Amino acid sequence: MTKALVTGCAGFIGSHLTQRLLSEGVTVIGIDGFLDNYDVAAKLRNLAQIGSHPAFTFHSTMLQAQRWKDWLEGVDVVYHLAALPGVRNSWGKAFTDYVNHNILATQMLLEACLQQPKPPTVVVSSSSSVYGTMQGSFTDETAPLRPVSPYGVTKESMEQICQVYVKAYGLRVTMLRYFTVYGPRQRPDMAFHRFFRQLMKGEQVTIFGDGQQSRDFTYVADAVQANILAAKFAAPGEIFNVGGDREIKLLDVLAIMGGLLNVTPKLTFQSGPAGDSKRTCADITLAQTRLGYKPQVPLEEGLRLQLADMRAQAKG
Ligand code: UGA
Repeated sequence: MTKALVTGCAGFIGSHLTQRLLSEGVTVIGIDGFLDNYDVAAKLRNLAQIGSHPAFTFHSTMLQAQRWKDWLEGVDVVYHLAALPGVRNSWGKAFTDYVNHNILATQMLLEACLQQPKPPTVVVSSSSSVYGTMQGSFTDETAPLRPVSPYGVTKESMEQICQVYVKAYGLRVTMLRYFTVYGPRQRPDMAFHRFFRQLMKGEQVTIFGDGQQSRDFTYVADAVQANILAAKFAAPGEIFNVGGDREIKLLDVLAIMGGLLNVTPKLTFQSGPAGDSKRTCADITLAQTRLGYKPQVPLEEGLRLQLADMRAQAKG
């Protein structure tokens, strides 16, 4: 593969993926719409990490601008990460934007790929939020989809529109359900970023709910690796869970963070936001057997790396 399009290239996972592709000699066209859910300064910092690589062309625009000729010509793989993320803000009026950026923009992209003389492979970013709160043991990809947030509904619909294009036209689309990704450059609204920021400033850490909720936190380099493997090995229409090394409760993560900073976290508990899943735990057997995916970074190590990045940022 020699040329890739990365949508959402200035975002958290997108910027890491772009850097990795460039380091492997891939020519990358990057698009980012700088949606206002995300601190622009943080995205500019992410882009600065990519630097002025000669094989990187950046378009600061939304997918809805539809400049497909500039973006798709000669592209072998599209990594579609552009989206309006975050489960807690997807209620109310914001839902229209979630539908626009997560479903409608994806359909535009699929349609444009179809029009190419040689349609590219498309790797689409989905989310564990399509499952809602998980029951029983680990959840595999056949589990029922019962999203508990409007955001999760848009990700489920996004998967369905992809499947329609696979079935009708044989478009080579594969979907990755990430489980709460963390690590350097994590989105500023996400839990670990907020917790580290609060701990570094000696502030109270705000826990939504009782802190007993659990997640299968996934390190960002592992999510990047899953994208690259999916582009190489996945069959059209395949969906994969992309999880981390284990399921862990939020309060147990905070104990690890406190240890890393040598502080005892002061906790404030707030009533849990609607749409928050109580539990996620990924069965990654399919990604392991079909793609050779294996999470490489244990939580303790990933937290250490995220903290180092946040300390470096704080120093400016
Ligand atoms: C995250 C992403 O934000 C979604 O975009 C993504 O789709 C999803 O992971 C997924 O792919 O699985 P979430 O699990 O809510 O969603 O991730 P965090 O923001 O890191 O929150 C983790 C837990 O910490 C949640 O239970 C949340 O309520 C809690 N939290 C978050 C707090 O207790 N305090 C905070 O300040 C922030």
